[in-house]
Amino acid sequence: MARKVALITGASSGLGVEFARVAAREKFDLVLVARRLPQLTALAQELSSAHGIEARVIASDLSRIGAPQELFDALQARPPSILINCAGFGDSGAFLDLPLASATGMLELNCRALLELCWLFGRGMRDRKEGRIMNIASTAAFQPGPFMATYYASKSFVLSFSEALAHELRGSGVTVTAHCPGATATGFAATAGVAGSRLFQQQKPADAATVALHGWRAMQAGKTVAVQGVMNKLGAFGVRLSPRKLVAGLAAHLNKPG
Ligand SMILES: NC(=O)c1ccc[n+]([C@@H]2O[C@H](COP(=O)([O-])OP(=O)(O)OC[C@H]3O[C@@H](n4cnc5c(N)ncnc54)[C@H](OP(=O)(O)O)[C@@H]3O)[C@@H](O)[C@H]2O)c1
Repeated sequence: MARKVALITGASSGLGVEFARVAAREKFDLVLVARRLPQLTALAQELSSAHGIEARVIASDLSRIGAPQELFDALQARPPSILINCAGFGDSGAFLDLPLASATGMLELNCRALLELCWLFGRGMRDRKEGRIMNIASTAAFQPGPFMATYYASKSFVLSFSEALAHELRGSGVTVTAHCPGATATGFAATAGVAGSRLFQQQKPADAATVALHGWRAMQAGKTVAVQGVMNKLGAFGVRLSPRKLVAGLAAHLNKPG
């Protein structure tokens, strides 16, 4: 039987690499996407020789207008049955003091590219009555995040959009999962400038392989929202019961240097 294809964005680093490792172990052929070609190529070679699968790499800046459509066009011969939207980044600091281009670029990648890929690939999945989409949100999705304002807002978008799309696709054979990791040891903290924040300093960040396996299992089980880790689950539940000003203040505290 022909192997199915898993398309993973953000596969040059961190969680995307670990999602690719799980998918390869599960005998999916892979399409690995990010900007850094050498990292993608090395991972593709490692996983294809270890697991006997095919791994294709596509270097793309997904925040560029037109990039999701180009990716879709390139995969028409073998469309994916799994789409994992993992590419994303954050920044930190007072919103008005950060470059506007960082905020708008974040929305282009974390929100617009993710949305376009869901639309482009989701329609084919719906027609075939089979598919799994997993969008990587964050525990940041559950509350406003002063000093990471744009990032938290972008992840709120991912969570809300994914839940709504999951609802619309009920019974279609296509599931949508919003995966919500907490602080995880990847390249994220350095890129976002939060490696020294209380959030990353006060507890040991989770291991990326553990987080990815949790997400993969939730996606395969068709769960709509999956929060990784007991403390993160408690936190996500707790903010629902707490005044918004209080949770914004707590997020501000955690986003500041420890
Ligand atoms: N680590 C955490 O604490 C944490 C917690 C919750 C949620 N998340 C989310 O998890 C996802 C994965 O992040 P990570 O933690 O694995 O961080 P990471 O190690 O920095 O990985 C980010 C990935 O996104 C790719 N990427 C960045 N800009 C891109 C662009 N313009 N076009 C295409 N790909 C791009 C990067 O590849 P290139 O640089 O090669 O393009 C890289 O593969 C993100 O959505 C992040 O928001 C992370």
